[in-house]
Amino acid sequence: MVDEPAAQHSADPTPEPRRPGRTSRFIRRLWPALWRISLRTRLRLSILVVITGLVLAQSIIALRVAARAAFAQAEQRSQAIAMQVRMLLVDRLNQEILRAQPPPTTLQESRALWTRYLRTDPSLPALLEKLMASSPVTLEIQVCDEYDRVLLSSIQGPIRYDERKFVDFGSWNHRPLMDRLWEVLTQRREYAVTVPLGVPGYPRPLYVIRVIISSVLLRNELMPQIRGLAATSAGTLVVALAVAFLFSNLIVRAFDRLAHAIDLIRSGEYDAVSPEDRGESAEVAVVRSKLSLLGAELRSALQLSGSVEHLLRSVEAGVLMFGPDLRLVLASAPVERLLGKPRWELIGRHLHEIFPPSTPLGQAIQGGLDLGRGFRDRLISLQRNEAESVAVLASLEPIHRPQTRRLQGVVVTLRDVESQKRLETQLQISTRLAAISRLTSGVAHEIKNPLNAIALYVEILKMKLAGQAAVNQELEIIQREVARLDRVVKTFLDFTKPVELKIGPVDLNALARELVSLVQPEAEKHGVKVRFLPASEPAMIHGDRDLLHQALLNVVTNGIEAMPRGGELTVELKTEKDEQVVRVIDQGQGIPQEIQDKIFNLYFTTKPRGTGVGLALAYRVVQLHSGEITFRTEVGRGTTFELRFPAAGSELRTGPSADVEWEPAAAHRRAKGRKTSAESSCHSCDCRRRSLQSQWLRGVASP
Ligand SMILES: Nc1ncnc2c1ncn2[C@@H]1O[C@H](COP(=O)(O)OP(=O)(O)O)[C@@H](O)[C@H]1O
Ligand SMILES: [Mg+2]
Repeated sequence: MVDEPAAQHSADPTPEPRRPGRTSRFIRRLWPALWRISLRTRLRLSILVVITGLVLAQSIIALRVAARAAFAQAEQRSQAIAMQVRMLLVDRLNQEILRAQPPPTTLQESRALWTRYLRTDPSLPALLEKLMASSPVTLEIQVCDEYDRVLLSSIQGPIRYDERKFVDFGSWNHRPLMDRLWEVLTQRREYAVTVPLGVPGYPRPLYVIRVIISSVLLRNELMPQIRGLAATSAGTLVVALAVAFLFSNLIVRAFDRLAHAIDLIRSGEYDAVSPEDRGESAEVAVVRSKLSLLGAELRSALQLSGSVEHLLRSVEAGVLMFGPDLRLVLASAPVERLLGKPRWELIGRHLHEIFPPSTPLGQAIQGGLDLGRGFRDRLISLQRNEAESVAVLASLEPIHRPQTRRLQGVVVTLRDVESQKRLETQLQISTRLAAISRLTSGVAHEIKNPLNAIALYVEILKMKLAGQAAVNQELEIIQREVARLDRVVKTFLDFTKPVELKIGPVDLNALARELVSLVQPEAEKHGVKVRFLPASEPAMIHGDRDLLHQALLNVVTNGIEAMPRGGELTVELKTEKDEQVVRVIDQGQGIPQEIQDKIFNLYFTTKPRGTGVGLALAYRVVQLHSGEITFRTEVGRGTTFELRFPAAGSELRTGPSADVEWEPAAAHRRAKGRKTSAESSCHSCDCRRRSLQSQWLRGVASP
């Protein structure tokens, strides 16, 4: 036999690749479609198919049994009828011989006698008809002579030849049952059971008795059985359908409940899934208890990752943690700025993808990994993209499992050299301020007492020399200068005092709006137009409203003072990631290079009536709020001061504590993410001084 694809191949000589047969193509197309339909439908279909199959198989078996019995019975009965006919005829034909006058002498004469009798006896057809009644499948009974002429039939008529082709029922009954059943159910056929009738000594039968069976009658015989089977099958199928619906609903309901449990976990209700629920099957109960465990584990994992995230957020450097497969697991926020890509885009990427070995940094990292040794603060240029590269201080730390020494992960730390430098400058300023503060607080105490004495004695002197106008004027000058000196010393002392912060939620938008309307009239007098660009939403931070107001006022005032010939001052607010940013932009004379690193110094001023306190205070307040103050300036064009604060809720850096001491270096260390305990040794802080402090702060608001 030749199989199908080969047959196709021979029909089509071009050497095309073997194409799958039509059936397999159909199955291939059907299969995915089957998987796409819902589980409920699939369950229903499967149950239906199985039950239909069973019902069908059972019906076929029953039908086979019924058919086999019916066919066998038909053969038996027909045989019996044929035998009865033979007995009857033998009897009648013998009597005919005895009755004949003169009796026949040859077989020829006897045969003529019998043939005539069979043709003419009127009682015979009726007798045959009566015999037929015992078998409902018998169509006709015939008695034929040796030339196959019908001499006698249960259906009356002249002598005739029967044109019909009869299949021998005996041998037909040996054919496969299903073939026979199919034939009976679909075709119209006549079968015959034949019995010979002869005389001893003569080799061939003289007559043949033929009992004719009709397939139509056989079918009629089987019909009640078939109908019964069809009815039972239909009934069973209906029941199956109902069962399929009920059963699939039952199963899918369990899934629905599990899906609901998963939804609960996804929505953050980690403990909402109870470990057991009555009325559930053992399998579902197992899944449920596992889900409940999973919820608990997920919660602790999220808590852990939350605290790691929190830790990473407070880190100034770009920290990248890679897993054992060298794929990025965690990254700190500054990584986004350093690599110029959002973190979600980087997480899961391979180390080589983030730092390709072709770049200097990638090469250094690969070298370190090959040697199994890390490095610390190596100055390397980091290729941000094709055009841009920045200098970074990179550190590499491979983490090995202690026993096996197998690589468990890699931590890459990147520090932006630019911001490092900026930090160092800030640190220097802070350190300098701290040093000044310490020194001055000591000196100031020493100066204050003699000053009080001088003031007192000048007062006495004035009283004693009252009326001497010439001396009086000098005395007044001494008194004024002493008072000024006293004020200066007081400011010194106040600046070194601890500050009591009154922390609360502050909307920088509202605060800036208030401030702008406060300074507007004064600004307009000097020809300065103040423009306010608020953030789109409340710019919330945690902080001390009064202090923040003070700091911002000082910066704004400086901006206005920088434009003696008028101009525009812009106060702009922006929420950038987790920071609130305030920018004060003026169009003033700018800050010359040589004084740029001095402007935050206490008492540094270039103004004739300046105090040099404004920016030092602003710097201090911003630091107390874990913020950052920077400026950009261009001589002759203007200056932009930028104040950045961690947004409320972001807990970006270690927030200010309720009672923070002024110690710039300590504040700076806090900003770098390390905890410092308040250094209290050099300051004596009593409540009176604190209230003085707030008075002084208010005093600066209107210098
Ligand atoms: N917006 C500005 N434009 C130009 N120079 C500024 C600006 N802000 C501050 N400065 C410079 O910084 C110095 C210190 O400012 P500040 O501490 O507020 O003291 P004061 O305003 O009393 O001089 C100013 O004297 C000025 O030289
Ligand atoms: Mg000022």
